[in-house]
Amino acid sequence: MTRDIHPFILVCGAGSIVAACSGGGGPGPGALARVADAPAFAALAPPAHPARDQAWPSSAEYMPVITPPFTEIFARLTAAKPALMERQLALMASRYDLSDRPARGVTMSRGKPVQEGVRVRLPPGVTWAMLAAMSPAEIRAKDLWPAGFYPLPHTNQVEGGFVFPRVQIDETKKQEGRDLTRFDLDFDTPDAFLPELPPAIYLTSRKDLGDVSRGKLVTNQNFFELFEGIVSPRELDGLRLLVTPFPQQQFNLTSDRRSERPSTGATCFDCHANGHTNGAYHLAPDARPEAYRHRINTPTLRGVNMQRLFGSQRALKTIEDFTEFEQRGAYFDGDHVIGAKKGLNILDRGAQVANMAGFQELLDFPPAPKLRPVDMKLDPARATQEELRGQAVFFGKGQCANCHAAPIYSDNFSHDLETERFYTPREINGQVAAGDGPIKTFPLRGIKDSPPYLHDGRLLTLDDTIEFFNLVLELKLSDGEKRDLLAFLYVL
Ligand code: HEC
Ligand code: HEC
Repeated sequence: MTRDIHPFILVCGAGSIVAACSGGGGPGPGALARVADAPAFAALAPPAHPARDQAWPSSAEYMPVITPPFTEIFARLTAAKPALMERQLALMASRYDLSDRPARGVTMSRGKPVQEGVRVRLPPGVTWAMLAAMSPAEIRAKDLWPAGFYPLPHTNQVEGGFVFPRVQIDETKKQEGRDLTRFDLDFDTPDAFLPELPPAIYLTSRKDLGDVSRGKLVTNQNFFELFEGIVSPRELDGLRLLVTPFPQQQFNLTSDRRSERPSTGATCFDCHANGHTNGAYHLAPDARPEAYRHRINTPTLRGVNMQRLFGSQRALKTIEDFTEFEQRGAYFDGDHVIGAKKGLNILDRGAQVANMAGFQELLDFPPAPKLRPVDMKLDPARATQEELRGQAVFFGKGQCANCHAAPIYSDNFSHDLETERFYTPREINGQVAAGDGPIKTFPLRGIKDSPPYLHDGRLLTLDDTIEFFNLVLELKLSDGEKRDLLAFLYVL
């Protein structure tokens, strides 16, 4: 089977073929043939990736179960890595201002500074006010949608898979001797824009204890001493499974892996660090071909007990379902065939999944001392004037509360923000940006603890999210209203 059988097809509106369908690697041999077969469509060539193309001829459907020897894959992908990283880091630098600028006096729960300012770069000569004055159609026609508002591709969109931040890799190696380094690529978002590591842990069942992390990253080396006696034996067993490595596409014991040495796998908490998130990312398993798969940034598990939809796009209905789905689906890119070869671990629903869900459902949002527990809105006696004005914008002109409703600041629905109103589809580093579709309304409680934002981590600061929604919802907020809104988001 070769790639030619599965050319990437993109529907392009009349006249938009050049803008929408150019860029990237140029048409592959089969793509041109397919254009002739289907005159109504223009084919978007698969992004060129010679190393991967030779090692792995088709990424569009089933992966080949027999792969070249490990030494061959290792040599090819290691050689291809510098160019790949250069391309991705150049993309990041062109989309964002990545300088380290902590906001004065605003920190995450355990003290890591929050980054300030809008970091998405504007097209030359354009201001946020100018964009806000234009209609979506005008922004689209003039090609002015800021680069950082487009979907963010995976470091290597064709290959995908788990990518962990360096701090997580270092601490896991130190504690367990397990190495989460990939030889074919590195993490792309600077540390200043990631959640703190280790993050705090709050338990719904023991609010009196406050942060129970004791400043440690919870792993299989310390979970027992940290949690014995404060959770039930059943939840302690669930936590054991959440910190137990299980095989996965890139981290496994076969020769088809992306760790230098054979690996026992990844744990749930390698991404959901301390039940929160460290900003690790991979690709949603759902869509095909690969160029249409969405990058997904790890969401926090805080407050899952209050939620009804799980996964930014799949919208599974229970924590138990999502826990099973992670290993059976997401760990192997939705390819159960390759999963069987690499050691897919099937969890027992009654004994194991239930215990894992039990622990996750104890994870609470961080305290919000300025909110009244009864309705989780500001207590006027403790809030500043700026925060109170921000709350008024949030529940009024900003329309935020239509979807982000108190008490957890989510409506437990998905919404299609239709960002594709603002741009013509295009390929960006191997990913086709053609709209996001319906996405879960993530809760905003404790939101300053979990950058970067949106399902793919495309926005680095809360200031960026305000500019994003100001355009998406066509709000025309004033600079003062934006500042007030930010002050309110900080105290959620
Ligand atoms: C590579 C990092 C990674 C690992 C490992 C991982 N997850 Fe996730 N998790 C994610 C991402 C990314 C999402 C968002 C999925 C989406 O957007 O569809 C997610 C979503 C979830 C959700 C839904 C959260 C929400 O707010 O909708 C739950 C629950 C969850 N994971 C539990 C687990 C469990 C249990 C394990 C271990 C079996 C696990 N995860 C392993 C990255 C990871
Ligand atoms: C129509 C429903 C809707 C409205 C109105 C809305 N949001 Fe959202 N919000 C969403 C959805 C859906 C997402 C997830 C989008 C994604 O991940 O691509 C989101 C994501 C966010 C995030 C990032 C959450 C995270 O965990 O990454 C922030 C911050 C946010 N919204 C703030 C706001 C603010 C501030 C307003 C008002 C100015 C607002 N939203 C109005 C639906 C809405």
